[in-house]
Amino acid sequence: MAFIKVASVSDIPDDGGHCIEVEDRRIALFRKDGEIYAIDDTCTHDDASLSEGEIEDNQVVCPLHGATFDLRTGEVTGPPAYDDLNAYKVRINGDAVEIEL
Ligand code: FES
Repeated sequence: MAFIKVASVSDIPDDGGHCIEVEDRRIALFRKDGEIYAIDDTCTHDDASLSEGEIEDNQVVCPLHGATFDLRTGEVTGPPAYDDLNAYKVRINGDAVEIEL
């Protein structure tokens, strides 16, 4: 496992998401209250892109059918999805966003 630069902090809107592709994975980066989180981008229900979802509290709401996932852990918190996402450790290095893969 190593930290890999995947984006700049300025790529990620406040209270919004940004999708990156690295090592054949699509990962959603979110910024909430100054913190940056990284979870899988693909909803476990039906393949929607979670980086296009709205953030409510510490959860992202799937834009397709409304399942919710915890930004911090990837845990599913509301149906119709039932499987958790992977969450990735994030490190900020200057303006670089690095995640552990
Ligand atoms: S694709 Fe996300 S809830 Fe259906």
